[in-house]
Amino acid sequence: MPDTVNVLLIGGGGREHAIASALSRSPRLGRLYVTHPENPGLAALGTPVDVPVNIREIYRLVQFCEHKQIGLVVIGPEDPLAEGYADKLAAAGRLVFGPNREGAQIESDKAWAKQLMRGAAIPTAESRTFTDAQAAIAYLESREHAPVVKAAGLAKGKGVFVPATIAEAIDAVKRIMIAKEFGEAGRKVLLEERLTGPEVSVLAIVDGRTIMLLPPAQDHKRLLDGDKGPNTGGMGVYCPANVLTDAQMERVERDVLVPAVDAMRRDGIDYKGVLYAGLMLTPSGPKVLEFNCRFGDPECQAILPRLKADLLEIMLAACKGELDACDVAWDSSPACCVVLASEGYPEKPRAGAVITGIDKAQAMPGVHVFHAGTKLNAKGEIVTAGGRVLSVTALGDTLAQARERAYAACAAIEFPGKVMRTDIALAASRA
Ligand code: AMP
Ligand code: GLY
Repeated sequence: MPDTVNVLLIGGGGREHAIASALSRSPRLGRLYVTHPENPGLAALGTPVDVPVNIREIYRLVQFCEHKQIGLVVIGPEDPLAEGYADKLAAAGRLVFGPNREGAQIESDKAWAKQLMRGAAIPTAESRTFTDAQAAIAYLESREHAPVVKAAGLAKGKGVFVPATIAEAIDAVKRIMIAKEFGEAGRKVLLEERLTGPEVSVLAIVDGRTIMLLPPAQDHKRLLDGDKGPNTGGMGVYCPANVLTDAQMERVERDVLVPAVDAMRRDGIDYKGVLYAGLMLTPSGPKVLEFNCRFGDPECQAILPRLKADLLEIMLAACKGELDACDVAWDSSPACCVVLASEGYPEKPRAGAVITGIDKAQAMPGVHVFHAGTKLNAKGEIVTAGGRVLSVTALGDTLAQARERAYAACAAIEFPGKVMRTDIALAASRA
């Protein structure tokens, strides 16, 4: 028997349920502790952490890790990474999968990320950063075409505006910098060249130096079919994304991911965890729209079910700087993940609706149901408790079959106010 490792998993969404499921397949997993047991998917796989989890009382979590002999901490979401959880836990001697606060700036400060990209000649949209609303507005008034307007900080995917007119762009600047709709995240604003082309997410696991590319995935960020409606955190995804050729994938590795990691290493940042490049495939090649410092949600729910290697071993190797000695293999079956959301998402999702049919869906061939915004009510029923409720992934022999299976599973799950897109992976499965 190999030595087992106790793991602490921070985070409570569908992404973390997918991470917990993949870790649970490892023969080396000892006990899995979870910070969000109100998520029934995580509760089924892990033991609740019984201390408060916040950055002010981080010493409680540090002590917890000591008592429970935690051999690996996995941080799922961007907020705790940006707050410096990894710094505090690593300083106390823990192996932490997830970058430190400085490295997390690649997501938490878009102005910082742009500077890094410029310094490393990484292809990205041209942009200017403003700390003063009047200066940003004056610049906009001098332009002919409206640029994309972005709050520089973390805004749960809502701080990006793609305005059709200069007037709309000015309005976006006012919402971000004057009305402060995104709080501190809007202290700086980026005005960015508008690019066109299909979007794709390329993620890599990084050990500070070496990168392990994960198969590309394509998210569907708009709420409604045909890429209409407001931007969301992501309504569905498929993997591998055939919009990216092998040659383009190599180019992304060589021109985007490797130089980003090298540039951070030169700046003294030992980046360990996931580096996620959100790319647009423009007529002049792939360009970076944003970097994230974590697995994508729902990308993770389509990527990890295809992993045929031990995620725990890979994460440990990343933390120890030993990724070059690590093997990885992928299921050849494509995956399609459809998000079931709640009526009112992303503005005001409806909570408390009773969900049925999860077991039936879960029993279908190739299907994995991940809990995102769900909880148990007083009667022990599973109810909606967030905007994105469930991520329903299916693997199939072809993408078309994966898609059919995912939608059959989605049809088996019912709750009042269930919302989903019906065209996830549709175009790709016909290609
Ligand atoms: P981000 O959070 O930076 O990925 O932006 C959210 C969404 O806004 C992206 O998925 C794109 O659809 C769109 N977007 C962001 N930046 C640009 C850009 N420079 N040109 C066109 N669309 C963009
Ligand atoms: N699905 C997009 C993201 O995780 O940022």
